[in-house]
Amino acid sequence: MDAFVVRGGRRLRGRVKINGSKNAALPLMAAALLTDEPITLENVPNLRDIASMANLLETLGCQAHRGDPAAGGDPHRMTLQATDASPCLAHYDIVRTMRASICVLGPLLTKRGRARVSMPGGCNIGDRPVDLHLRGLQALGAQISLDEGYIVAEARRLKGAKVFLGGTFGSTVLGTANLMSAAVLAEGTTVIESAACEPEVVDLARLLCAMGARIRGAGSPRITIEGVDRLHGAHHQVIPDRIEAGTFIMAAAITNGDVVIENCPTDALTAALDRLTEVGVELEPVDGSPDAGAAAGEVDPICQTVRVASTRRLQPVQVVTQPHPGFPTDLQAQIMALLCLADGNSMITEKIFPDRFLHVAELLRMGARLIRNGPTVLVTGVHHLVGAPVMASDLRASAGLVLAGLAARGTTTVNRVYHLDRGYEMMEVALRNLGADIERINVSA
Ligand code: EPU
Repeated sequence: MDAFVVRGGRRLRGRVKINGSKNAALPLMAAALLTDEPITLENVPNLRDIASMANLLETLGCQAHRGDPAAGGDPHRMTLQATDASPCLAHYDIVRTMRASICVLGPLLTKRGRARVSMPGGCNIGDRPVDLHLRGLQALGAQISLDEGYIVAEARRLKGAKVFLGGTFGSTVLGTANLMSAAVLAEGTTVIESAACEPEVVDLARLLCAMGARIRGAGSPRITIEGVDRLHGAHHQVIPDRIEAGTFIMAAAITNGDVVIENCPTDALTAALDRLTEVGVELEPVDGSPDAGAAAGEVDPICQTVRVASTRRLQPVQVVTQPHPGFPTDLQAQIMALLCLADGNSMITEKIFPDRFLHVAELLRMGARLIRNGPTVLVTGVHHLVGAPVMASDLRASAGLVLAGLAARGTTTVNRVYHLDRGYEMMEVALRNLGADIERINVSA
């Protein structure tokens, strides 16, 4: 199993370019099940979760090919084509490795009339039910039952309906993706109320529209979809990863560095940038203009090349994670690491996944002063963190620990980085290019 060894204390300097978004790419790939024509995606990150989705799609009769750099191809281009429409089984062995496998449910059901998808179950960040996905599909007329741990869904043709997707913790991102992907081939009009507004949902709507779907309102809480009879192939550019961008901004800030971030989706990071400004970390546009492509309206959200500038003293702040456009839960661990070094008391409240605090116990081992009370953590800033062996079985918690390690005195070993590899493309290489002292080692289990 791989680990990162981080010797802290180096200021990060240089340029980093943000990759395509994992959480956008996964439902985009699943949308290839909606047509038998090819779907080409550009800017697909090279990550373990993407490989798992490609693997799942292959078992569902959909071929997935990445460009081969040895043959002059682009490794971030992926072409997907459904050539066999008979398989409908998303097996437990694959689904249990990646919860996002649930996003094949809507496309399979609406295109093939049936789906048997393993129930994803909980994970390290909480229970993570899929009741809203199922209720939504039932509202479109699907017959749904559970059989030996599998969701069995059937419908001759789905029928448009009004669907409310709000739950106790807000809307659901992948639930909205599933419903939207199902409704595009349904008969009549579907209105999703309390839809997730995340940029990844907007990106999926853009691909579906390029395939011939008729969708209005994506990015707002009401999405209207007029069903069509068939969809065709399309070419699509995946949006940059706002969470990767936020992570690198905070890596720069926690090391008091000077980092230029290319392809940074600032528009999608408003809440995070608002909190960071309060902390004393600001982004300055480098050339004052959006990146190529964004200016022509080809990518959404607007991307910029920005420089991270921070004052030496970090101010404490209150952070509450919320659905987009609120502060993203996927950046909660990273900002906690940063606030560990702020000058006073900060409060972080997690409203999306109230148990997503695997990093707390590990940060305590590095000398942080944290008190957790239910979904809230009181963070009292300390003068410095100290390196330690740490481990967190969650992708973003692991990212928070890497940031803490970059700033800590001494050596931090972040174990089990396969969690990080699910969502960050060669993070250690990108950080080393910025001057961090970080290496990947193999430790026997
Ligand atoms: N929820 C329900 N019922 C449902 C679905 C969700 O109660 O049927 C609850 C969840 O338990 C949670 C809240 O609603 O409390 C929001 O969950 P959501 O469904 O939006 O999460 P998701 O779609 O499964 C995606 C991202 C997560 C990200 C969340 C929230 C992907 C592949 N995953 O998950 O990303 O944290 O939205 O923004 O897009 C990550 O990248 O590390 C990650 C966990």
